[in-house]
Amino acid sequence: MSYSIKRVVVIGSGTMGGGIAAHVANAGLPVYLLDISSTIVSASFERLKKSKPPAFFTPQTADLVTIGNLTDNFSWVAEGDWIVEAIVENLQAKRELVARIEQVRKPSSIVSSNTSGLPISAIAAETSSDFKRHFLGTHFFNPPRYMKLLEVIPTADTDPRITEFMQTFAEDRLGKGVVICKDTPNFIANRYGSISGAMALEYILENGYTVEEADAIMGPLIGRARTGIFRLQDLVGLDVAVAVGENLYDLIEHDESREVLRNSTVRAVRSAQLERGRLGDKTGQGFYKKPPKGTKADILSLDFETLDYRARREPQIPSIAEAMKIVPLAERLRFVLKQNDKAGALARHTIYNSLAYASRRIPEISDEIVSVDRAVRWGFSHELGPFEIWDALGVRETVANMERLKISVAPWVKEMLASGHETFYRSEDASRFVTENSGAAMIDLGDGVLSLELRSNVLDASTLGMLCDALETIDNGDYAGLVIASQATDFCTGTNLGVKELQDALMKVRFSSKPVVTAPAGKTFGAGAVLSMSAGAIVAAAETYMGQIGAGGCKEMVRRIVSPAMKTPNTDPLPLLQQVLQTIAAGKVSTSAAEARSLGFLSTSDRIVMNRDHQIAVAKRVVLELADSGYSPPVRGKTCYAAGRDALAALRVTLYVMRQGDFITESDLDMSNKIAFVLCGGDITAPQWVDEQHFLNLEFLCHRDTQKAQNQQKSI
Ligand code: NAI
Repeated sequence: MSYSIKRVVVIGSGTMGGGIAAHVANAGLPVYLLDISSTIVSASFERLKKSKPPAFFTPQTADLVTIGNLTDNFSWVAEGDWIVEAIVENLQAKRELVARIEQVRKPSSIVSSNTSGLPISAIAAETSSDFKRHFLGTHFFNPPRYMKLLEVIPTADTDPRITEFMQTFAEDRLGKGVVICKDTPNFIANRYGSISGAMALEYILENGYTVEEADAIMGPLIGRARTGIFRLQDLVGLDVAVAVGENLYDLIEHDESREVLRNSTVRAVRSAQLERGRLGDKTGQGFYKKPPKGTKADILSLDFETLDYRARREPQIPSIAEAMKIVPLAERLRFVLKQNDKAGALARHTIYNSLAYASRRIPEISDEIVSVDRAVRWGFSHELGPFEIWDALGVRETVANMERLKISVAPWVKEMLASGHETFYRSEDASRFVTENSGAAMIDLGDGVLSLELRSNVLDASTLGMLCDALETIDNGDYAGLVIASQATDFCTGTNLGVKELQDALMKVRFSSKPVVTAPAGKTFGAGAVLSMSAGAIVAAAETYMGQIGAGGCKEMVRRIVSPAMKTPNTDPLPLLQQVLQTIAAGKVSTSAAEARSLGFLSTSDRIVMNRDHQIAVAKRVVLELADSGYSPPVRGKTCYAAGRDALAALRVTLYVMRQGDFITESDLDMSNKIAFVLCGGDITAPQWVDEQHFLNLEFLCHRDTQKAQNQQKSI
């Protein structure tokens, strides 16, 4: 049987159900979202539409969600190709629900549970064998749109074709990073995370660390998320963390490390906090205390001695600042682990114990180390997973360090070393590197496609040099075209180059003899956005935040939005110019690639890829498609519409009225007038078609004037 998902039903509209429904809608699929009553589901849906960061790609995406209640609308379940259960974490409630689903579901439909800890097989234990074949776990992380990890948990009864289908569907349509898990307690990420977190917590509380010290050490310093350990606990909620720990303890009798979940020092602090209702962000206080909403005051920190709140105390550990100057994580970790201070001690305890624990959980929770690494990276935003860190530190040396600290390593690691294998992973063939500098690298993607990988968040002289070299390489060589991408979280957030220099380089991108495809993702601001738009085609990641293009984006916006429309006779350019002016002057940034499209940064022919891991492959395919269909560069000629003096006057009136109404400040007015001048093609007497350089010259003048004014301001 072949499977396809055209409609989804999500049951339970809380934190997770709502988030899953929104993300399914982001993938363009219609969803029914059901809950116990209409009142509950309506309230959840309203919250979902207002959630921050946004759960939906655009406000219109929410139209794909239809809400209903489990009494009047249960028959809708019969329409679902995929039915996701995301109700309260209670085995009996989940069992009752799947029994009801079984009564109405259509034969080929797939049913999954989002449980975070209950055994998947137990939820379906009382269902038919056909149901069991179609049932599995799909464990999303919170918030479902933004967290990459999706743990897919087949049971012994799940049809392997369904597991495979769901993996492909989740990767391609939902853009998730799928890790297939065994049906073991808390699956992979939360099993590792709970124990490794408890190990750190025990050490922190037993060795007199402050909240601030622990967070400064347990964050980016050792390749982990900014939230550190205590800010993360406040985010998750102490009640949830305690419940997860307690449930897990009971389920893992055989786990040699489980006692850490019941450490008495940790329990004493947690009980005191629970008693005082200090659950974290949801109660306004946890390990940190935030000032009441609407008031301005400093965030206070919990004092473990008195269990009262006190003013923030900056950690006095000089090695932290020293280490943060080291960019490569492996090098930084080696530095931290050597320190004879509180940072070194906590890092050694946490890292060595967590890595060793991961080794001891193979093969129980997974047969593959890569699944553990991915689950930890994607589920907790760690830079590297445990085995990747281990490789980076040196496996043999790290094992010796662990043994010195009496930490037990799984025998298979020592066997691996004894058999002559020094690393967990073998590195990929590096022959694809063409050349690199500090700002970018040229990489051969195979099949005749070259890639320019941006290495710096800011377009600087070294990036520009490499960009020009790459364009020359494709122009003179056998390459079919170029992909411009970045492996970093953000594509590019600006430039420190001069305007002319940048404009000339971007014109080379635009008029390259061979196709250039840009692959923006994450923050794509200013010059990064203009670089993206200069290419022959864009393949954007779904999570692309594009905008803040300033005057430097005027030409591209006129070319992309105003000019195509003006080819139709009698079109009024004013509404289009107003829209573009608003976007540029307000420094708008899209909250998704879909929104970037509605703002005009992306055109309808530009592609959006849900899974960022697939982005470069798709961009490469687009280069080849363009080359195969006989690519020729854009025509250099009078292709841009300059609306001229009358449109400019109308825009200026609008801006004047906005200033009068106090909607914009005097300096906004000044800047907006300058941008309006460029967008209209200057003060020309009659509308006319001009070349791109005409607008670039105006952008340059606008930039020069702004610079001059700023310098004057400074000297005053
Ligand atoms: P929640 O409490 O925010 O939402 C649960 C929803 O289910 C509520 O709207 C409630 O009205 C509804 N509900 C409760 N009992 C029901 C029943 N018998 N029949 C139908 N609907 C019922 O809970 P949350 O956080 O969304 O969790 C849902 C599931 O996802 C749980 O199994 C939880 O363990 C799991 N999970 C939660 C994560 C989180 O960070 N909150 C992360 C991953 C999984």
